[in-house]
Amino acid sequence: MGGCFPAGSPMDESRRRAWHALGLGPLWRQRAPDAQSAAASPSVLEAVRPPLSAPATGAGNSATPPVLGAVEAMDWPALRAAVSACRACALSGTRTNTVFGVGDERATWMVVGEAPGAEEDRRGEPFVGNAGRLLDQMLAALDLARGRDVYIANVLKCRPPQNRDPSPDEMERCAPWLRRQIELVAPRVVVVVGRIAAQALLRTEASIASLRGRVHAYPLGERRVPVVATYHPAYLLRNPADKRLAWADLCLARSAHDAQR
Ligand code: URA
Repeated sequence: MGGCFPAGSPMDESRRRAWHALGLGPLWRQRAPDAQSAAASPSVLEAVRPPLSAPATGAGNSATPPVLGAVEAMDWPALRAAVSACRACALSGTRTNTVFGVGDERATWMVVGEAPGAEEDRRGEPFVGNAGRLLDQMLAALDLARGRDVYIANVLKCRPPQNRDPSPDEMERCAPWLRRQIELVAPRVVVVVGRIAAQALLRTEASIASLRGRVHAYPLGERRVPVVATYHPAYLLRNPADKRLAWADLCLARSAHDAQR
């Protein structure tokens, strides 16, 4: 078998269905040169500008001046409470719910998206619309599942009205929450989906086409967490031909993940 999994590794029915949904037949897998070139260099962690470390606001209240170190000291319950009370930007006035994150808090995999959409805003959970269903299939193809060894979060915790792009200021103010989530999960690899999330996490203006296919690093204290950027599932729904590139990226992420054992 080609792809991410060693020859002879078992493929259960749910993973087979997920591969089918992704258009990943056996021939496709044998032909995946992108996966080979990408997987060849998982150890090359590229330097990126350090992400924001200081919270842009106090713990969830714009009336409170920034308290350096406050977010960095939060445990999961404190972080969740602070996010749900956050008034750091105007999105707090239009949201229905904050969308904190979902999954295994000790996962070795983490997925980071851009911002909640309408369905996520209504339900308070990331990736529950059409794009989320494709994301679940991508995870299943890796033998992962929502809540089982993967934690899913967004750069923004509140929905931008009409699903417009997040503004730089909104992303800046929200950044400490995601940073703390990454610290607490301490994943072996982060898969960041879509241009906007990749640019925010990696602090670059490079295109998603140029960011995908290699392993970046997210500095976290002494650690440099491997980050693999790929296309957003919503983009893949519109451009199914690029699923093969996304699959190569997921295989690269698998290599980077397994190299951290
Ligand atoms: N798109 C995202 O980036 N995140 C979500 O939670 C939903 C759609």
